[in-house]
Amino acid sequence: MPSFAPLKNDTFLRALLRQPTDYTPVWLMRQAGRYLPEYRASRARAGSFLGLAKNPELATEVTLQPLDRYPLDAAILFSDILTVPDAMGLGLSFAEGEGPRFAHPLRDEKAVMALQQPDLSSLQYVFDAVTQIRVALQGRVPLIGFSGSPWTLACYMVEGAGSDDFRTVKAMLYNRPDLMHRILAINAASVAAYLNAQIDAGAQAVMIFDTWGGALADGAYQRFSLAYMQQVIRQTKREHDGQKIPLIVFTKGGGLWLDQIADCGADAVGLDWTVNLGAARAKVGARVALQGNLDPVVLFAGAKQIREEVRGVLESFGKPSPGSGHVFNLGHGISQFTPPEAVTELVQSVHQISRELRASAS
Ligand code: CP3
Repeated sequence: MPSFAPLKNDTFLRALLRQPTDYTPVWLMRQAGRYLPEYRASRARAGSFLGLAKNPELATEVTLQPLDRYPLDAAILFSDILTVPDAMGLGLSFAEGEGPRFAHPLRDEKAVMALQQPDLSSLQYVFDAVTQIRVALQGRVPLIGFSGSPWTLACYMVEGAGSDDFRTVKAMLYNRPDLMHRILAINAASVAAYLNAQIDAGAQAVMIFDTWGGALADGAYQRFSLAYMQQVIRQTKREHDGQKIPLIVFTKGGGLWLDQIADCGADAVGLDWTVNLGAARAKVGARVALQGNLDPVVLFAGAKQIREEVRGVLESFGKPSPGSGHVFNLGHGISQFTPPEAVTELVQSVHQISRELRASAS
């Protein structure tokens, strides 16, 4: 294991741990991606998205691309949540313009009973990428590792692809809760082992993406998504080499369950753009930091509008106080059609306006 350079900018980690910061740190979900021409060039060289993700040199290159353009406060591993079910043998592919597809989805009892945790050695390319990115970052900003939530992974594993209504996976949940619980227990153990291996390889914070938690009914969310994220959280290490490893959970569409999510054991909760940040802050108190939550479509407006919307998010959270923490982000991933200049305006605005807010009276 190489030794890593000391961290020069720990603003992101401090905000997650609810420690004071000079300004509000910012990073963007999917910050390395198709809206950047340099990403599209690397992807063309790799031949495909999976070719890019499975090659640690190229994954390192694209992870650093947004940081070379913008003064972001964190890097996120370039990979995908679906690497885990791929390593379970479900056969992942990405058809051009169509999104992910599994060759062997979990459609019947036999397939579910045969499901097993992956051999972590088949995910070694991910851990190698984490270590290479840490070396290449030279301590500029912290590196985030991530995984899908047990439920969000199950959505793709059962549906075999994305879905508008998730009727196959939700029908299994209602018809055969025993099978669903079996999948989720295997996913939870796999996700915890996967996150721990990323932390051992050099990840300095970790995030669980529960993108489809919001597709569940009240009650089902708590039993089939939140409970299994709690299992993951209980099994994930929170310290490595004497450093705290903050953990973020993000349930898209989870605003109505914020009170329960804030008690799941995470350090920070990600919010989508439907949530009022000030109200969320009042609700969670000093339990967790908050991450979010600008509507990604604001980036299609003009520079002046972007600035005003950023101000609105920062003012909604309010002036940081002891025990609070805010990491600026979008409410979901950045759109592939975003003009790259809009991100320049966004990041500058977050840094400038959040400094002004700290300096202002009251
Ligand atoms: O945030 C980052 O910059 C890190 C990279 C990252 C990717 N996917 C790269 C990616 C992360 C954190 C993810 C997570 C992910 N993947 C989620 C959860 C977060 C979310 O966005 O909701 C989900 C649901 C997936 C599954 C997935 N991967 C889908 C549905 C798709 C196709 C949709 C699309 O946007 O094309 C992907 C492909 C994918 N993952 C791309 C990238 C940059 C686009 C691939 C390409 O270059 O064609």
